[in-house]
Amino acid sequence: MKAAILGFGTVGSGVWKVLKENQEQVKRYLGAPVEIAHVLDLRTFEGHPVQQVLTQNIEDIITDPEVEVVVECMGGLHPAYEFVHQALTEGKAVVTSNKALVAAYGADLMETACDHQTDFFFEASVCGGIPVLRTIRHSLAQEQILAVEGIFNGTTNFILSRMEQGLTYEAALAEAQAKGYAEADPTADVEGIDACRKLAIIASMLCGHAVRYEDIPTEGITKVTSEEVQQMRAVGKRIRLIARVTMENGTPVMKVGPEAIDAGHPLAQVKDVYNAVLIRGNMVGDIMLQGQGAGSEATASAIVSDVLNALNDRRRGIFEPACWTE
Ligand SMILES: NC(=O)c1ccc[n+]([C@@H]2O[C@H](COP(=O)([O-])OP(=O)(O)OC[C@H]3O[C@@H](n4cnc5c(N)ncnc54)[C@H](OP(=O)(O)O)[C@@H]3O)[C@@H](O)[C@H]2O)c1
Repeated sequence: MKAAILGFGTVGSGVWKVLKENQEQVKRYLGAPVEIAHVLDLRTFEGHPVQQVLTQNIEDIITDPEVEVVVECMGGLHPAYEFVHQALTEGKAVVTSNKALVAAYGADLMETACDHQTDFFFEASVCGGIPVLRTIRHSLAQEQILAVEGIFNGTTNFILSRMEQGLTYEAALAEAQAKGYAEADPTADVEGIDACRKLAIIASMLCGHAVRYEDIPTEGITKVTSEEVQQMRAVGKRIRLIARVTMENGTPVMKVGPEAIDAGHPLAQVKDVYNAVLIRGNMVGDIMLQGQGAGSEATASAIVSDVLNALNDRRRGIFEPACWTE
């Protein structure tokens, strides 16, 4: 079974590692190993074994009939959209970690996948290694989901955790950048945009039609001061950046913003770069998933899970219907 990876950065190299180091687990699940036949990247990776399968030409992947699944982890909208669309049109399954792509073109790409009887999966695009989407879609398919809320962004949670320990916002952000948790331009994280895109994906899945992330009221953490954090701490509360969707008569009501929650609340216990998702079903009650919402290996683990599911579907001659439409 052959796969290709688009983008050999943090996540793409993690996918390589997971498929190599956990090949026994992969074989046990599929009955055969997954071979990485091509890796598309602009760099050359001198001395790395990936060199043997490296290409700079997407056509090498699209036209290889043996490639069954394409993993997109280049990021950005273009040319990611065109490459993914082309792969689906050729009947290949596609797995992505690209939340910007799914939030903007999810319905379009799922429709293309269905038209060509293949899968388009994106578990890693929401909270990295935490299996949120598959839990909602499969394990809780029988439930009316009443609400999903959580801490969807590790960078801002790290900053708020450090502010709780007495740091200013600026000092906490600088530390997050030094540790590689925050990018040089941290806008998407600290303004809540990253969490908002993930919420749009979950909300679209809950209501079955595309929710525009631009329509979600969103506030980041840039206005939160260390004084506020300490004041809340003194009265037994913790400030967290909470993303929430509640289903009201079939309509999703959504918000992303900082909230002061009781120190005993499960989400208040989530510290540093960790993410957590609380799912409320009408029969099962509350379920909380917590784990690494980013990072090379955790995110790659979610991708490989999708790869295995897509390859299993192909073997059985099935594909998943679209989670939502326009
Ligand atoms: N990092 C995480 O923890 C994490 C977690 C969850 C989801 N994600 C998502 O996963 C995606 C990838 O993130 P990442 O952190 O792995 O990014 P990254 O480290 O920047 O890796 C992206 C790779 O793709 C290559 N690339 C970009 N455009 C290309 C093109 N047109 N042709 C060939 N190669 C191209 C880049 O090459 P150059 O460096 O030469 O540009 C780079 O090697 C993003 O959508 C991100 O939001 C990341």
